[in-house]
This record gives sequence, structure tokens and C-alpha cells, in this order.
Amino acid sequence: MNRLVEYDMSTIVLATQNPGKVAELRSLLQDSSIEILGLSDLSDSFPEPDETGQTFLENATIKAQEYAKLTGKHCLADDSGLMIDAIGGRPGVISSHYAFNGETDGRAAALSRQQRDEHNIDRVLAELDGVELEDRSARFVCVMVLADPSGEVIATSEGTFEGRIGFPIDEPNAIPSETVPRGDHGFGYDPIFLVHPDYLQTSAELEPAEKNAISHRGAAVRAMIEHIKGLALDS
Ligand code: IMP
Repeated sequence: MNRLVEYDMSTIVLATQNPGKVAELRSLLQDSSIEILGLSDLSDSFPEPDETGQTFLENATIKAQEYAKLTGKHCLADDSGLMIDAIGGRPGVISSHYAFNGETDGRAAALSRQQRDEHNIDRVLAELDGVELEDRSARFVCVMVLADPSGEVIATSEGTFEGRIGFPIDEPNAIPSETVPRGDHGFGYDPIFLVHPDYLQTSAELEPAEKNAISHRGAAVRAMIEHIKGLALDS
């Protein structure tokens, strides 16, 4: 018996309001019969679950399980962030609101996403003041979780993207290729993330397709696609 039928995985809800993420997954699964829906494609609107986990896996699991049970469909969720070695792996799960210590209401709620990103970048650069380039190693991490309609987790995947955090422009003795922010693409910490292995470009200087080919999210999505195809074809 085809497990796709057994699992009734003909539709997967991607737990995101971001149409770009939905389009990306759709195109990666275009050869399969699986239909991808974003939350905004559903007729009902669902409350956002609190991301109370201490790890990316816990938060992605909370979202996948919650939306699977609410929608009655298979649900795929991701959680991602930046981990900087010199500051103990922070900002980690609070990457999107690091400048506000992870608080999503109050002052943070009054700002645009771009303004929050700028505050987050300022905080990271300030915390790395005095740290040498070799010790500014960092990675983006993305974890994806697929839950079935009962809320049971049936697949997980992870991707990482290595780099270093550059120096602020006014850093004495820093050479131009080491200074940040630079680049107009991407979001979040991309303008300050110097990409491994040569650390000459920030991830905000990569074209979107170039970034997808090497990024944490690209790797996690590709690994998840393999899981999904395996579940669908396994008999
Ligand atoms: P989310 O998982 O899409 O909510 O992302 C969490 C946060 O991690 C974002 O708000 C960014 O601050 C940071 N982040 C995750 N992935 C990236 C990336 O590819 N570039 C830059 N920042 C990222």
C-alpha cells in the first residue's frame, strides 16, 4: 500500500504567512502530487502558538503540532536563528527579538521588522566589541518538523550555514572586506554575516538563489523533501 495514501499526505500546510517560503517549497515538490498550502491559503485564521521552547527543534515542533491539530492536515514548520560562538551560542532561539531580550510585545511590537533587525545587529556588534575576526565564528541554523494531523512528529531535518560576524565600519584597523553591514538582499542578520569559506561577501550580498543553494534553510528544506518523498513512496 502506498504510504502517501495511508498518511493522506496529499496536502501539507506550511506553518508560515510568508508567501516566498510557500512558493519555494511548492517549486521543490513540483514533481510530486503533494499540494503545499500556506496559512494564508486556508479559509480559517489560526492563533499563533507561543514559541516557548529552549531550542529550534522544540519551537518548530510546537508550531508543527499545533497547526496540524488545528487544521487537521499534515503540517510542516521551521524555526531558525543565528548562533555566535563567542557569546555562548546567542542569540539562538531569540534571534528575531534579541535586542529586546526575546520580548515580542512592548517596545519591540511598535517597531517594524526592519527596525528590529537593525537593533538586533547593533546589539550583536556591540557584544563582539574587541573580539578578533577568527573568534567571530557563527552559524545560522534551521530546523524543520513535519507533524501528521494527530500532531505526531513524523520527520525532522536540520541545516546549518557557517560564517563569521564582521566588524563595524568604524572599527580601527579592520580592512574593508571585514567590515559590515553590507548588501541589499536577505533579512535579519544577513548584512553582518561573512560567508564561509572565504568570508569576503556577506549573505546579504548573495543573490537569493545563491543563498538558497548554501543556506541553512535550503539544506533543511532539501533534507525534508527527501523525507517526504520517502514517506510518500515507501510501500
Ligand atoms: P524565523 O525562524 O524565520 O522566525 O527566523 C528567526 C530569526 O533568525 C530571524 O528573525 C532572523 O533574525 C534570524 N535568521 C534566521 N534565518 C536567517 C537568515 O537566513 N538570514 C538572516 N537572519 C536569519
